Amino acid sequence: MTLTPVLTKRFGTDQPWKIENYERLDGYAGLRKAFTMEPDELITLVKESNLRGRGGAGFPTGMKWSFIPQNDSKPHYVVVNGDEGEPGTCRDLPLMMNDPHSLVEGVIIACYAVRANKAFIYIRGEAVHAIRRVTAAVEHARAKGYLGHNILGTGFKCDIVVHAGAGAYECGEETALLDSLEGRRGQPRLKPPFPATNGLYDAPTVVNNVGSLASVPYIVLGGSDWFKEMGPERSPGPNIYSLSGRIKNPGQYEAPMGTTLRELLDLAGGMSRGKDVKFWTPGGSSTPLFTVEHLDTPLDFDSAVKAGSMNGTSAMMIFDEDDCVVRAAKKWSEFYEHESCGKCTPCREGTYWYVGIYERLEAGHGTLEDLDTLLDLGDNILGRSFCALGDGAVSPVTSSIKFFRDEYLAHINGKGCPFSPQGVALAGAH
Ligand SMILES: Cc1cc2nc3c(=O)[nH]c(=O)nc-3n(C[C@H](O)[C@H](O)[C@H](O)COP(=O)(O)O)c2cc1C
Ligand code: SF4
Repeated sequence: MTLTPVLTKRFGTDQPWKIENYERLDGYAGLRKAFTMEPDELITLVKESNLRGRGGAGFPTGMKWSFIPQNDSKPHYVVVNGDEGEPGTCRDLPLMMNDPHSLVEGVIIACYAVRANKAFIYIRGEAVHAIRRVTAAVEHARAKGYLGHNILGTGFKCDIVVHAGAGAYECGEETALLDSLEGRRGQPRLKPPFPATNGLYDAPTVVNNVGSLASVPYIVLGGSDWFKEMGPERSPGPNIYSLSGRIKNPGQYEAPMGTTLRELLDLAGGMSRGKDVKFWTPGGSSTPLFTVEHLDTPLDFDSAVKAGSMNGTSAMMIFDEDDCVVRAAKKWSEFYEHESCGKCTPCREGTYWYVGIYERLEAGHGTLEDLDTLLDLGDNILGRSFCALGDGAVSPVTSSIKFFRDEYLAHINGKGCPFSPQGVALAGAH
């Protein structure tokens, strides 16, 4: 597979986070070009590029921008979602560390397009290194006239505030993020109304993922046709895939949308223990599991759904034959139980029940009735929760039962886990 990096082209170059180095490699050229266009032209360009939000849901970015009302009297805001809490996901932080100005440039272009004069970059609080790096990038951009009252002499004014979250997965949900940014507890808002009309401080707001906005300068410079050359027409563009688990070289790999796990495994040096893939997440733990049968499924928004899962955050956690799927589902359920914000009953109680049942299964006290209860809980959480965290919690449970029911039965009939905690099959596991 041939790769021409776009989003990561500056990674590994000499101090790419410095503004002078960024400028040397096309930095802020997209912004200069954007200022030669009308805001509406930019929205049309991003629409035509078919860029889809990299935050998980794959919503078309240009369409989202077009929902911002024009000629109203309210201020408009752009809010960047840099919370990156989805298990296995690690691409926004490396991007902010290596190339913070690509994000800053994308944010200014977005502000110009939707007529916003203020943007907020919300980064999870634990990522102090990224908060410092992006804060410095914003200061340097301001000092060079890319932010402020009269940007590059155009008369357009815009500034960016970097905000540190407190480290809650739920604060990545866009409306919970807005509440958190306003100083309230991070719980989701009822939708509609949507942020496009009633977002931050009840004003029209675009909420976009780091990767979505960092893609924008390249689209402005390269054009929508160039962008659509990478990957499938309806889900195109360069993408950063996060690979972790039983592979030789875990890390971030840039490849066009629609790349398969088989191709990504080649880039990552293959499986670390020489064993076959057993199960994997295509887009973080909130997306239904795939198995060895899905190695050739193109990983883009539409193809992943067609194959029974979702592209999500393009975070692949890869497990081999000797890893216990029940233990993995237990760990993920513990995560969701811990991160459930408690606002709605199906998620708050359902994730608590999930964990209790998994503890019984692992301890060898599970029953066939427990297996039915896991599925029944899924029916009551999915589609009945207030936000998508509840739906995400169901994904690893129901998909693992769908593909590996026998392994659940082995826990029940064999009175415990047939694998060691380190992921080694005990006698009779296969
Ligand atoms: C529980 C939960 C956590 C989320 N965490 C993130 C996150 O960390 N980063 C992100 O960009 N989107 C996250 N999202 C998705 C956002 O709600 C929203 O769809 C996204 O920020 C929109 O940006 P995009 O259109 O550029 O993808 C999360 C959603 C849910 C339900
Ligand atoms: S699904 Fe309900 S309890 Fe779970 S995080 Fe969302 S609002 Fe909170």
